[in-house]
Amino acid sequence: MVNPKESRNKEPKLKFYKKSSDGSLTYLTDLEENFLFVQRLDGTISRLDLFDQHYYKLRLYNGIPILEVDGLRMQLVRDFKTPLDYAKEVVDGLKIQNKGKFHVFDSCMGLGYTAIEVSTRPSVASVTSSEISQAVITLAKYNPYSEQLFTNKKIEIINQDSFKFIKSIADNSFDFVIHDPPRFSHADELYSNEFYQNLHRVCKKGAKIFHYVGSVGTKGGRSIEEEVIGRLLKAGFKNTIYVKKLQGLYFEK
Ligand SMILES: C[S@@+](CC[C@H](N)C(=O)[O-])C[C@H]1O[C@@H](n2cnc3c(N)ncnc32)[C@H](O)[C@@H]1O
Repeated sequence: MVNPKESRNKEPKLKFYKKSSDGSLTYLTDLEENFLFVQRLDGTISRLDLFDQHYYKLRLYNGIPILEVDGLRMQLVRDFKTPLDYAKEVVDGLKIQNKGKFHVFDSCMGLGYTAIEVSTRPSVASVTSSEISQAVITLAKYNPYSEQLFTNKKIEIINQDSFKFIKSIADNSFDFVIHDPPRFSHADELYSNEFYQNLHRVCKKGAKIFHYVGSVGTKGGRSIEEEVIGRLLKAGFKNTIYVKKLQGLYFEK
């Protein structure tokens, strides 16, 4: 993390954003809300961004932190007031029954908004959430809205590439999956036949899955959701439905 004094000639003007739940940290933001900062009890301030092969930063969007990687937003906010609303709508769409004991795989944790939202459903017993980047996990530790990732015993964080991790999972493990990868051009393995075959293998019969696929302009004549649907059907999934507002697909095993 970069200290504002080190990173800029002039110290930026900061305003109060929030206190951590235990009161030990004070979160601040610059006037344009481009960055988040954390102030510790000893007065030291760090800007919540870092380089680790890529540039990762937290910033506010309508009062809620979002993650940017190399300037790309990792939470879909178009058509949503905040990224938390997106996570809620994704999870609502899985139509998880209130009764039961369900196991969920949240592939590509990010700030954990989808993992945390799905963990609030009473019938969800466990959420396994995989994230490739240690930098993202570090920033999530400083995000007040990601706190439950580290305190809720239902959630287990796996610091691994989903593509590799899924190969180590036993057959028929999950009742629900949320697969929220970066866009296709940045993570093609997570849209590959091999990944989908493994996804099919680790899902229980009847499992429901949400898969963010993004929206690719139709100008080039390429429809990413059509390509993905073709691969999913080939892997053995059925009942694929594309939801434009969520830029993602629901489907079943
Ligand atoms: C769109 S964000 C996920 C947002 C998340 N669902 C949330 O609610 O905050 C995508 C995340 O996937 C991570 N990622 C990228 N490639 C990955 C991979 N191969 N395996 C696991 N995570 C990956 C990125 O670091 C990023 O944090």
